[in-house]
This record gives sequence, C-alpha cells and structure tokens, in this order.
Amino acid sequence: MPWIAAVRERQIESRRLVTDRAIVEATLGRSPRSVLDLGCGEGWLARALAATGIAVIGIDAIPALIEQARRAGGGDFRVMSYEDVAAGRLSEPVDAVVCNFALLGNESVAGLFGVIRSLLNPHGSLLIQTLHPAIACGDHPYQDGWRKGSWAGFNADFGDPAPWYFRTLESWIKLFPEHGLRLLEMREPLHPQTQKPASVIFIAQVAD
Ligand SMILES: C[S@@+](CC[C@H](N)C(=O)[O-])C[C@H]1O[C@@H](n2cnc3c(N)ncnc32)[C@H](O)[C@@H]1O
Repeated sequence: MPWIAAVRERQIESRRLVTDRAIVEATLGRSPRSVLDLGCGEGWLARALAATGIAVIGIDAIPALIEQARRAGGGDFRVMSYEDVAAGRLSEPVDAVVCNFALLGNESVAGLFGVIRSLLNPHGSLLIQTLHPAIACGDHPYQDGWRKGSWAGFNADFGDPAPWYFRTLESWIKLFPEHGLRLLEMREPLHPQTQKPASVIFIAQVAD
C-alpha cells in the first residue's frame, strides 16, 4: 500500500539524515586535512568533507560509481578494490581513513586492517560507521558469520543484495588493538522515530 511505502521512505530518509550527519561530524571532529574514503560509492561523503576544505581520495571497486563521483567532483576518485589497497597500491598517507557502511566482508576487512597503519599519518584516525550489531542481528545467533544479503543499510546504488559478514560488537572492538590502533570512542546515533541505534561509529587512532 502506498502509505506503507511513504512511511518506509520517510524512515529511510530520517535514518540517512541521522547517519550521514553522524559520520560527517565524527570525521570533522578529528580535524583531518586529508581523508581516504574507502568504499566511497557515488561520493557524497567525499563531497561533504571536501566542501570544508579537506583533500579527499575516494576509492571504490565499482567503476560506474566512481564515474558518478568524478562527474560530481569534490575528490580524487579512483577505481580500486580493498584487495588492491591491502596489496599496498595506495601510497599517500592521510590524516583519516573513513569507511561508511562499506565494510561488508571478512577477509577483505582483515586485509584492510592489515595495512591501515601504513595508510595513516602518525596519530591518524580510522572512522567506521556500520550497522549496529544488536539491531542487525535480528533472530540469528549473536555470533560472527556470513549472512544472506539484505537491503537494510544499503543504498539503491548497491545492486543485488550481496552476502555480508556479521560481526558482534566484541569482535569489532578487538580488531583495533590487534592492528596497532587505539579505540577512542564508540557512538550509537539514535533513529529519531524508533529511538534505537541507527548505526554504530567507531573512532580509533594510530597507537604510539
Ligand atoms: C553500502 S555502499 C556505501 C557507499 C558509501 N560509503 C556511502 O556512504 O554511500 C558500500 C560500498 O562499498 C564498496 N565496496 C564493497 N566491497 C568493496 C571492495 N572489496 N573493494 C572496493 N569497494 C568495495 C561498494 O562498491 C559500495 O559502493
């Protein structure tokens, strides 16, 4: 029924407003002069950050998305996969690496964390916004593992829903110290209607 669609769309819209603003604010809070947007998609976050004077590199594996991002401008957009990044094909260290709803795998995430310090300047920051595990878990057991594709948290550009790797909060939090990073803060932006977390944001820094 149309009203259901209308309600849903408004919910998605308010969610986008909450999580978009949350990741922009979290990133600006680190005062970076340069940012790498991993899995930048069509580039909205890169554009929002570039508008404040930050030099942004955006990478994504999907050429059509990078093409759209380039047309809209605002950043240095490149077709590149996380596997390319993990293999050391990015050589310009930045003040902050940002991943907005873009860490969907297991091995690919392990590969990225393996090189994250080499992507960052001393005291550089890593910011990750992702689905909140307590919400995204649904009726499944609360344990790490591959889950069937879902549209939840994905934008329309993403094509067919691909399988994604569920991580518990404990598992996310362990990733940082295992890779030479100190978790500074965890944020849980609330959905204005449901008052449940719309996402979780991890803010980490290169450990001394
Ligand atoms: C849900 S979208 C989010 C896009 C963007 N960060 C945003 O906020 O709109 C996830 C993005 O991650 C990218 N991505 C996922 N796995 C990737 C990989 N292994 N290498 C490069 N990009 C990847 C996808 O192409 C997609 O654009």
